[in-house]
Amino acid sequence: MARIAAFMIGAALIAGPATLVLADPPPPPPYQMRAAAPAGDRNAPGRDGRALFENHCGYCHLTFGMGTNLLVKQRLAVGASPATALLANRDDLTSVYVHAVVRMGKGAMPPQTRVDVTDAELDSVAAYLGRGK
Ligand code: HEC
Repeated sequence: MARIAAFMIGAALIAGPATLVLADPPPPPPYQMRAAAPAGDRNAPGRDGRALFENHCGYCHLTFGMGTNLLVKQRLAVGASPATALLANRDDLTSVYVHAVVRMGKGAMPPQTRVDVTDAELDSVAAYLGRGK
């Protein structure tokens, strides 16, 4: 009897994951989708900082992105609202700070090269996040 039970459990463990693999995977949730890149010359100054941020930084820094998740913990630790884990909700960021973090990286954030984000794009993103500071 114990042997039959062990066999049934074993068969369930093997068959369970196998049926999961055969099923069609669900579409990725919206927060894993990268926003479309805004049209235009990547080296032109003064482009839409918000659209550039959502395209280049959004897959980490929009809702449920890994950057947002990590920053929730940091913001709570300094007594700030968890809503400020979304960089667009911050009012303490400066353009200079955003430039430095993007080019040098910070902790778990990898540095973004000029291929990832051109200097002109970074200026526009930094102006958006820094709110002109
Ligand atoms: C691969 C994911 C990823 C991408 C892409 C990314 N970031 Fe980050 N970012 C993070 C993570 C994770 C942190 C938190 C790092 C830590 O403290 O360990 C972070 C932190 C930051 C911070 C510091 C916030 C603070 O409170 O000090 C700024 C500013 C920032 N990111 C801006 C940007 C901008 C602007 C872009 C796009 C040009 C960008 N990031 C792209 C993951 C990312």
